[in-house]
Amino acid sequence: MIPDSFIQELLGRVDIVDVVERHVPLKKAGANYSACCPFHSEKTPSFTVSPSKQFYHCFGCGMHGSAIGFVMQYSGLGFVEAVEELAGNVGLQVPQHTDARRQEAAKNAPLTEFMARAAKYYREALKASPRAVAYLKGRGLSGEIAARFGLGYAPEGWQNLEQVFSDYQARELAECGLVIDNDQGRRYDRFRDRIMFPILDQRGNVIGFGGRVLDKGEPKYLNSPETPLFEKGRELYGLPQARKTIRDTDSAIVVEGYMDVVGLAQLGVENVVASLGTATTGMHLQKLFRMTDRVLFCFDRDSAGDKAAWRAMEASLEHLADNKSVEILQMPGDQDPDEYIREHGKEAFLGHARNATRLSEFMVRELERRSNPSTAEGRAQLIHEAKPLLQRIAAPILRIQLTKAVAHIAQLSQAEVEAQCGLRTILPGGRPAPPRAGRRPQARSIEHRLLENVLHRPERAARIPLELIAGVHPEGAALRAIADAVDHGALPSGGIGQLLEHFRGSEHEATLSLFAGALTADEFDEASMEEEFNDALERLRHTGLTKLISELSQKERSGGLSAEERLRLAALLAQKTAAAVRRDK
Ligand code: UTP
Ligand code: MN
Repeated sequence: MIPDSFIQELLGRVDIVDVVERHVPLKKAGANYSACCPFHSEKTPSFTVSPSKQFYHCFGCGMHGSAIGFVMQYSGLGFVEAVEELAGNVGLQVPQHTDARRQEAAKNAPLTEFMARAAKYYREALKASPRAVAYLKGRGLSGEIAARFGLGYAPEGWQNLEQVFSDYQARELAECGLVIDNDQGRRYDRFRDRIMFPILDQRGNVIGFGGRVLDKGEPKYLNSPETPLFEKGRELYGLPQARKTIRDTDSAIVVEGYMDVVGLAQLGVENVVASLGTATTGMHLQKLFRMTDRVLFCFDRDSAGDKAAWRAMEASLEHLADNKSVEILQMPGDQDPDEYIREHGKEAFLGHARNATRLSEFMVRELERRSNPSTAEGRAQLIHEAKPLLQRIAAPILRIQLTKAVAHIAQLSQAEVEAQCGLRTILPGGRPAPPRAGRRPQARSIEHRLLENVLHRPERAARIPLELIAGVHPEGAALRAIADAVDHGALPSGGIGQLLEHFRGSEHEATLSLFAGALTADEFDEASMEEEFNDALERLRHTGLTKLISELSQKERSGGLSAEERLRLAALLAQKTAAAVRRDK
């Protein structure tokens, strides 16, 4: 854990305007800055950055957060990585002893150094090998694209890396998977006579390689093993190169192979990443959904590709939200995307991409194909297969729609399918849908109004009579926690950015994020916010007093009051009258 005090110091040091401006050109608009939102596509700017609150917020899509949140969402970094990047920018040192991740990063630093040197060597060896250059040219690749992806060549020979690393026996060489130690203790290069595809992490460090044979040979692709740097299920090949276009086009295409990424880029389709031979994981999808709402999976039309499509569908179900879309494109014929685009061109490929199958359609179609719904047994089989899928769908509206579609094919009612699949409790009237940015909870309680307001100026929390706040609701609990933090000086700068970071990872995070995401433009007007706050406080006092008074009066009727309670009741009644007078003025 990075101590909260450090996070607060960091947020005091960086200016969110600088941080955002590095990636998004901002225009001054009154006290704030605005731009077209980098997180969704739009023509008129609804993305606002407030220097006084150290907070950004898009009125269009609800994305919001502190400077740290911006770096996480924009660059797709994790929290610790984002903190490190910002700290580096302002010359702060992230406290080391408390942070295991940082120690790990420090430990990994020499390994990335080894990988970078190897990658450089392979790039240079490519230039020196007419045969390797001819191979890439023969596959339609230009020097420019080869450079963009840092392609290289590992020459023939068993110990070429000896020329690169003065200590060929260094432990790190084996640790990052560049060499292999055989049983006799002899060490040799893992990659020999192969075209090298470096795999980069989100910051552009080389963390692994895929190496392709030039002619026939097994295996066709040799990959780096899992190492401290390289965890296969996490990485997407081509992501750093594709990031900008994914944002610009607001869509990402996921393909199966290295060559698909490079081949599509060669012909101008640049929002493409590959899943590195492993099955699609939720992690992949989460990463992509941070950058775009639309993800298109592209699979070869063979049995492996069909299986992969089904698996991608399964993996996607729980990450779906009603505003995110996943589509599946099964390539026509037996060509993979690289072969297809080379033969038919960019427009033909994009045409297929536009007509891809929505995940919901794909699911229904495949379920129907796998069972035989013309018989009763087949229809039962269909429900059996649909059950785990329907249960995994996180998007409530989509789930209802799919349930209906399945019910239709199975010749059952929606209610019957819901009962069979155990969906009942989660449909309307049951557990509420998970909160999402941009949607306000229905009833605005006083706690709700106060919390909205306090988010603008956390120091206001100190003015709330907490004894009147109902702590049982998440809003009430969050208000108490904020008041407590203000009280302990944990929010020195008072901006909402700092507040969100203070509560990151706490039980209040979700509530605060929901509220922060739903802030509207007029609430940035200070004068009306103050008025609204005073209003809500009055109301709180009024209802709070009313409740206490009625409790005491009840007691008085049923069993009588102690002398002390009688005094208290009188005082409360006086307070209530005073409040009423104030309100009428
Ligand atoms: P493909 O066999 O479809 O290769 O494997 P490809 O991408 O079309 O490559 P080219 O066009 O023949 O050069 C798809 C992906 O599966 C992984 C690689 O990531 C490859 O890009 N793979 C495949 C391996 O890891 N090892 C292999 O031996 C084969
Ligand atoms: Mn191919």
